[in-house]
Amino acid sequence: MPTPLTVVIFGASGDLTARKLIPALFNLALKDRLPAHARILGVARTEFTDDAFRSHMAEMVQEAMTVAGEQFDPARWAAFATRLFYASADLTRPQGTALLGEWFRANEGPAGGSRLYYLSVAPELYPELSTTLGEAGFNQEKGGFRRLVIEKPFGHDLATAKTLNEILHKHWREDQLYRIDHYLGKETVQNILVFRFANTLFEPVWNYQYIDHVQITVAEKVTVGKRARYYDSSGVLRDMIQNHLLSILTMVAMEDPTRFTAENLRNEKMKVLNAIPVPDPATAATAVVVGQYAGYHAEPGVPPGSRTPTYAAVRFQVENRRWHGVPFYLRSGKGLKARYSEVMIQFRCPSHLMFPLPPGQELQCNRVTIVLQPNEGIQLNFQTKVPEVDGVSLQPRDLSFDYKEAYKEKALPEAYERLLLDAIQGDASLFMRSDEIERAWEIVDPIIAATERPDAPPPEQYPVGSQGPPCADELLAAEGKKWRPIG
Ligand code: BG6
Repeated sequence: MPTPLTVVIFGASGDLTARKLIPALFNLALKDRLPAHARILGVARTEFTDDAFRSHMAEMVQEAMTVAGEQFDPARWAAFATRLFYASADLTRPQGTALLGEWFRANEGPAGGSRLYYLSVAPELYPELSTTLGEAGFNQEKGGFRRLVIEKPFGHDLATAKTLNEILHKHWREDQLYRIDHYLGKETVQNILVFRFANTLFEPVWNYQYIDHVQITVAEKVTVGKRARYYDSSGVLRDMIQNHLLSILTMVAMEDPTRFTAENLRNEKMKVLNAIPVPDPATAATAVVVGQYAGYHAEPGVPPGSRTPTYAAVRFQVENRRWHGVPFYLRSGKGLKARYSEVMIQFRCPSHLMFPLPPGQELQCNRVTIVLQPNEGIQLNFQTKVPEVDGVSLQPRDLSFDYKEAYKEKALPEAYERLLLDAIQGDASLFMRSDEIERAWEIVDPIIAATERPDAPPPEQYPVGSQGPPCADELLAAEGKKWRPIG
């Protein structure tokens, strides 16, 4: 008899559960990847019966799948829905934990089972909820594992992240903790490692001798919308740069682990973070520019006069032998021209060019562009000779790899599918260790401070649907570089 597994989602009436978690679990079930004996228990204060929860989720999942252009199969949903359960419980009260304990006793059977707890609640509740679970003994591995998945934001700065880690460690071992950065679950982000370390072509030139600079872009077309309550106290530096973009940077810059294990991988990522100097206030002020889209103040819930940045561009250095002197430019923003994320590796130009260029034409030197979304793929850009009987003129052209074209029969999985399955299987490679999170805050805190100082320039306005604020172009222009256009 396999050990029963319960995925317990706290905050089950919330948006993330309906938009991401249940669809991901449903997709895992469709792919036969969810253990046959797995059940999903939604927990929240809202009153629902099991059946009402099932119908509510059916509606939400159908809507999410329609938006994503996928087919919703009612018969397969009905089979999946038999695994869904709901407990209406307030875990801030003793009755809440008692009720939950009762559910486990009644449903897991005398031998117990494994449990994956998922904190999909407001971040202010992480300390209390994780402590309550620990104090109730729900962390004890009787009859199976106990793992705790924690959503971002993980802290608001270094001090709060450290405090949260300390609170978590009172009741949970580090290897029971799965801190999510959903960008690491994206197929294309994982492919950065395969591209680099399962090929011989690129690695010899993947260093300061050949690379001029790196651009990492995560651009969003959406604006803040209804999320202002969270977003306005966070801003793009906390919401995107400290976690998603720095994680991508570590994948681009790290050395290859000798063996592909969670600890090795995380050790290598940590070495990169350790090689990024924590900027002093003067350096931080010159390394960052921020913007805010026009109309941000009209979003519901944004306080008048808010200076929260919705766009940031930041320069980082990785001070080790591989990367000395190579700037990594990271930018992210909302309300931009397109939803578009990429890593662009700009190689140096040939030291001497024997082909004369027409006046005003600049040589576009080699680039590797790894498109993370939405048209996932890789482009290698190089110079070609334009067919012509007279003379030699040059044009850059792409060698392209397109994920959807190459894997027509295999849809790219959603990040949450991969991450939930990894957490169920106990593979923490794509989750953040406590030291990684803390180091990322240590690096980003002075940058945030530089933008929040009373004498800091206010975020520069940019129109919705644009490339972002002019100050981002100026940051690169001052160093003789240019952003690749978004979209
Ligand atoms: C989240 C941020 O972590 O990532 C959001 O809180 C952002 O503000 C989202 O919109 C972007 O994720 P994706 O997968 O849509 O690129």
